[in-house]
Amino acid sequence: MVMQIWEVKKMTDFKLLAAQIKALAEDEPNYIPVLSNASALLYENMEDLNWAGFYLMNKGSLMLGPFQGKVACIRIDVGKGVCGTAVEKDETQLVKDVHQFPGHIACDSASNSEIVVPIHRNGEVIAVLDIDSPSLNRFDEQDKEGLEHFVKTLEEVTDFG
Ligand code: SME
Repeated sequence: MVMQIWEVKKMTDFKLLAAQIKALAEDEPNYIPVLSNASALLYENMEDLNWAGFYLMNKGSLMLGPFQGKVACIRIDVGKGVCGTAVEKDETQLVKDVHQFPGHIACDSASNSEIVVPIHRNGEVIAVLDIDSPSLNRFDEQDKEGLEHFVKTLEEVTDFG
């Protein structure tokens, strides 16, 4: 008898996570607790990640913000790596294999795929959400839509100062 092994990826309930971060932000909308809890929610509820967090625009470049995972690079120039490209193009970057992405910045050598979503205030990119996985091809269109919805909620409820 031939056995077939199916790898089933559990879909994350991004609508539930967005509702949770909205409720948390009602208590305190300041970006430090909101983004800290947002990185914890995503890291705990998405499978197969090795990093989830934020970079914030500061003095013309991206500066490391609240995150879950290993120690990471502190500054990234606009236009550099996946995060800097997301800012420059003002577009979500869904990278199936980071080793094929020109200029990818390897903060953790375990990362193989990545998704970066820009965050706006008054139409300007002020931060990015960055999520990394040790698996190739970890993120798909459903993750992209779900994370963009999550970020839209963050834009609405967070006081970025
Ligand atoms: N890989 C990112 C850098 C940030 S770390 O992944 C946390 C990039 O190329 O922008």
